[in-house]
Amino acid sequence: MPIWYGGDYNPEQWPEEVWQEDVQLMQRAGVNLATVGVFSWAKLEPRPGEYDFEWLDRVLDGLHAGGVRVDLATATASPPPWLSKLHPEMLPVTQDGTTLWPGGRQHYCPSSPVYREHAARLVTALAERYAQHPALELWHVNNEYGCHVPRCYCDVSAEAFRRWLEEKYGTVEELNRAWGTAFWSQRYDSFDEILPPRSAPTFQNPTQVIDFDRFSSGELLECYRSEVAILRRVSPGVPITTNFMGFFKPVDYWAWAPEVDVIADDSYPDPADPDAIEFAAMSRDLMRSLRGGQPWILMEQAPSAVNWRQRNKPKAAGQMRAWSYQAVARGADGILYFQWRQSAAGAEKFHSGMVPHGGTDTRVWREIEALGGELKELSDEVVGTRVPARVAMVFDWDSWWAIEQPASPTAVPYLSGVFAWHRSLQALGVVVDFVQPQSDLSAYGLVLVPSLFVATDAQLESLHEYASSGGRLLVTHQTAILDEDLHVRLGGYLGRLQETLGLWIEEFSPSAGAIGPYAGADVTPEAATVPNVPFEGDIVGGRAEGLHWAEVVRPREAAVLARFAEPGLEGSPAVTRNETGSGAAWYVATLPEPAARAALLRTVLEEAGVETEEVPKGQERVRRGALTFRIDHGDQSVTIDRDGD
Ligand code: GLA
Repeated sequence: MPIWYGGDYNPEQWPEEVWQEDVQLMQRAGVNLATVGVFSWAKLEPRPGEYDFEWLDRVLDGLHAGGVRVDLATATASPPPWLSKLHPEMLPVTQDGTTLWPGGRQHYCPSSPVYREHAARLVTALAERYAQHPALELWHVNNEYGCHVPRCYCDVSAEAFRRWLEEKYGTVEELNRAWGTAFWSQRYDSFDEILPPRSAPTFQNPTQVIDFDRFSSGELLECYRSEVAILRRVSPGVPITTNFMGFFKPVDYWAWAPEVDVIADDSYPDPADPDAIEFAAMSRDLMRSLRGGQPWILMEQAPSAVNWRQRNKPKAAGQMRAWSYQAVARGADGILYFQWRQSAAGAEKFHSGMVPHGGTDTRVWREIEALGGELKELSDEVVGTRVPARVAMVFDWDSWWAIEQPASPTAVPYLSGVFAWHRSLQALGVVVDFVQPQSDLSAYGLVLVPSLFVATDAQLESLHEYASSGGRLLVTHQTAILDEDLHVRLGGYLGRLQETLGLWIEEFSPSAGAIGPYAGADVTPEAATVPNVPFEGDIVGGRAEGLHWAEVVRPREAAVLARFAEPGLEGSPAVTRNETGSGAAWYVATLPEPAARAALLRTVLEEAGVETEEVPKGQERVRRGALTFRIDHGDQSVTIDRDGD
């Protein structure tokens, strides 16, 4: 199998004369996979129930003749105008009651039976027509579920939410208990009274909000499932995917991953953001981890600039290539772009394409063509190989949703902590898998648990088991504060982990003020916008700053390795270590500044038997199969070492 190379191909935007040139140019660039038809519903079904597939037949036949395989989209991401004219009730509604009208894309309520029925009818017709087409390699269901409309608050959604709650809780009494509705006179007498968390005068019921997050992610998954059921029946044996969006908050990809045959990801790091490349590395690690290390496909990236930021910097010469190798090194078996030919009209005409407005005598085209050739050469050594990782980090959507709810101890973006620890591990040359707390963790030398704010008893038991049976566990502040109903774990938080860590938490002591989104979150103490909390101990190389958070930790069996040095907190433990069974568990009650984090990690990794190699900022070193990729994002060079080199 080759490394897949190609992109979204939207021939319906072009006269047919161009199609032939497209195939010739694809051959020149080494394109072997084209994603076809993502936004073609209105052309495929111009009137209700009337299909026009002939143009698509010619597109697929042409690609097949040119040796290009097809990732065929189900075209359900942008319903045609006639559908919402006939059924305006299928349009989505925002939290404050605004209807989102057609004229853009993704204007459908995920719970709408009308939308789902019409989508199912189209998918059936497409599958029947193309199941046997020789160009068909992969089905591409919908597109970027939830990208623009992750949640819908309309009456149809409200009814679906009620049914979902009834299924989950059985009785309204049980819902009242879980939601804690004794607070603020919120008691429900029947399920009929319940609404989605529409705009309200003040803080909404936290459990209602997280249940709506869970429901909304699940409704999108139901849309995906209903299309998949048709494809599996009509087009058996052809793999199915849908494109994810990295760390996308509204959709819990752990729940989705078992239902796609291959993970596909869309990734648009900002070339103007100096932190973007490290954040992208973390996203690639997530994509590889979602299906337990199985190779994934980078389904979309920009050949150069995007057009949807305020300022859209093109990728520098060599940058697209270096970023593509980052994905390959971290487990991708496919490098694809949005889109093949840069549009001449429409909302994305200023988004770069593999064939730019300027044609083929352009830097972007030359880089596209060159990389296609390189990846073809590399295919045999890469495809199907795995990326070994000895360290895992727990990542959890419930915790993400809950920790960022308002009315919390302080506003802390969940990703800021996750990213901070991940980039410190990157700097030590350590590759990280993401896991769920209940995963089988036995293969890892070290498991990091950054701010697992919400945890079930079973998840905590799994982490305890891992540590007690010889693992090395590092848990950070704000972990296991709440259970799955968002009820506080009374008596010192942490639940079962109190025993694992040998301590309990008396009180939170966050710095005043809020910190920014991920890119600003890992700031040096000098640049921090909120006061830091000093702490000291040999384990962190002496005196250090803790970013934005502290806790009053009450050790029982745990050994104290560093202590806060702030008035009011003096002497209170900041870093502890506890032996549990045949393993050990550390607790870190703040986010140490980068140097302190690195010092702590070096010790912990050594104890865990994980090798480190300092990697200078802007560089990466990742092993995949028998290859070691060294990428320098400064001069954009890529070196590939082979075993035995
Ligand atoms: C997303 C979509 C594409 C396109 C690109 C542009 O990834 O899937 O259709 O809009 O963004 O960046």
